[in-house]
Amino acid sequence: MIIEITIDGKVIKVNDGVTVLDAARQAGIDIPTLCYCEKIEPCVSCFVCVVKIKGQEKFIPACATKVQNGMIVINNSEEVRDCRRKALALLLSEHVALPNGLKCKCASKTKCRLKACAEEYGADHTRYTIGQRREETRKIYDSGLVHEPGKCITCGKCVTITKENGIKPGLSFKGRGSNVCISAPFEIPFDKAMGEALQLCVDSCPTGALWITPKYKNDKSESAHE
Ligand code: SF4
Ligand code: FES
Repeated sequence: MIIEITIDGKVIKVNDGVTVLDAARQAGIDIPTLCYCEKIEPCVSCFVCVVKIKGQEKFIPACATKVQNGMIVINNSEEVRDCRRKALALLLSEHVALPNGLKCKCASKTKCRLKACAEEYGADHTRYTIGQRREETRKIYDSGLVHEPGKCITCGKCVTITKENGIKPGLSFKGRGSNVCISAPFEIPFDKAMGEALQLCVDSCPTGALWITPKYKNDKSESAHE
């Protein structure tokens, strides 16, 4: 069934059952996302995609909220933008400490969605300091996979991707609070634990926490993200 909703004053006809994010994308309206991946069920962990529905008090995640006929979505108000800014500031506080402000040294050579969103929304990495991660040593695996734990925002995409694709053993979370991180059982190398889903995990990671270095075979000591 086709229904009608409004986003930022634009009337959109969509199939009943799609999400607010789907509807916005169909209409060419940008809603930022970090933990969303269309190939898996929504992780709903970053809250960067929040919007407001007219008549409701709470902010809701666009990636996990189904449209309803007549719904009026507010996506671009200062209130919504400020909520996203706070969500991004929280994520930045979990990201490894950046002594040079937002000039994370890896970002210029990678597709860091976190940095792009933080810049777009003017999110301040110093707003929240509790839980800031230590700079942990990156691990480089035989396949060229690089894992940088300090850059992980524990969005959950890679964990869910391995789980929903039936990858054994796959990745999981370990630890609590600001110490939570992704892990593989029995210290199995991450690239082995991700199996056939390795490339999808790398492509989906919204930060520089997972990437593949093509130069690895020539020089194991290279530092590709400088
Ligand atoms: S490694 Fe990347 S995809 Fe996996 S949880 Fe961390 S930020 Fe998300
Ligand atoms: S993209 Fe919707 S909660 Fe992260």
